Amino acid sequence: MSKTHQIATKGVRAGQARTEFQEHSEALFLTSSFVFKNARQAAARFAGEDQGMVYTRYTNPTVGMFQERLAALEGGESCVGTASGMSAILTTALVHLRSGDHLVCSNAVFGATIQLFNNILSRFGIETTYVSPTKVEEWERAVRPNTKLFFLETPSNPLTEVSDIAALSRVAKKAKALLAVDNVFCTPALQRPLELGADLVIHSATKYLDGQGRVIAGAVVGPKALVGEPMTAFLRTAGPTLSPFNAWVVLKGMETLELRMLAQSAAALELARWLEAHPAVARVFYPGLESHPQHALAKRQQRAGGSVVSFEVKGGRTAAWHVIDSTRLLSVTANLGDVKTTIIHPASTTHGRISPQARAAAGISDGMIRVAVGLEAVSDLEDDLERGLS
Ligand SMILES: Cc1ncc(COP(=O)(O)O)c(C=O)c1O
Repeated sequence: MSKTHQIATKGVRAGQARTEFQEHSEALFLTSSFVFKNARQAAARFAGEDQGMVYTRYTNPTVGMFQERLAALEGGESCVGTASGMSAILTTALVHLRSGDHLVCSNAVFGATIQLFNNILSRFGIETTYVSPTKVEEWERAVRPNTKLFFLETPSNPLTEVSDIAALSRVAKKAKALLAVDNVFCTPALQRPLELGADLVIHSATKYLDGQGRVIAGAVVGPKALVGEPMTAFLRTAGPTLSPFNAWVVLKGMETLELRMLAQSAAALELARWLEAHPAVARVFYPGLESHPQHALAKRQQRAGGSVVSFEVKGGRTAAWHVIDSTRLLSVTANLGDVKTTIIHPASTTHGRISPQARAAAGISDGMIRVAVGLEAVSDLEDDLERGLS
């Protein structure tokens, strides 16, 4: 696959490896192990002298196709598939950090990421400092001699704050730390962090890469020296490998990635504008709106705003729950990245375990609702929300 091919082409074609049967659609290799011709070949494979397949915890042709396709989309040299988005973050941390290291993390990342850093990595002597996703100077001030990793998610969840990847990559380089960007909300169809200076891109492929809410999967993309070589060795030994079935589902999902991301972003912008004009709505958070504090940066860094729109209704939690409970079409679920629109009340669910004070400091009010826009007609989504808003 040529590097000059467009995203649409790479999404459909990159990584395909046909078998002797010349199947048109990518094959699913549901096998835990591979057969050797003889004892000599088995020994050579185990010694790494022969590059063929051994065991699916190490390598699998379907997982290989998934990895190549995602690497091509992100513009990265290599990619490893992992069992989930969380295991992609864990793999990144365990491969690139050791006891005594320090990491700087945006304070607006996925809740389980914060728990992983605070409750698990801390037990192995790795310390985390949390800083604002939008204030570059806070990242500069947080750097210590032992800082090895910067970690962020942009746009953030649920406030859709946008971090300046290029500016933070300059700070990370000066500190000799790696910059890892969780690209779940935008996907490579809208944003390519490696081109902006990030060292590693992390995915929960569970979300938009699959696009239809079917499987749990994850990935890390970046240079061979940071991803392909050390992470493949880690996965082979530690085992949070991506299952071939899940890899195949996401591989096929990526064929429609660009179409979905552009259509869902256009629908999200339309819905965000409608919400912004609604008298029952106090505030709308969407990077594609001119009123968004980082709108100019988002326009530079992203091809479109993405599908997540958060908004604050007047009347606090009672009013927010009323809007959610009045919907008949939208799915009340914590997941996002699906072609079916989802709705959730962050303060009592995804962000319910943080103290009310911390939530308020983070700007997640009791009246806030997060919608991840799918592919239904926007007028139908508006009608569904209007029932509870009016
Ligand atoms: C931004 C982000 N990163 C990582 C994850 C974790 O991914 P997974 O659920 O696939 O482990 C999620 C899950 O919601 C997420 O939203």
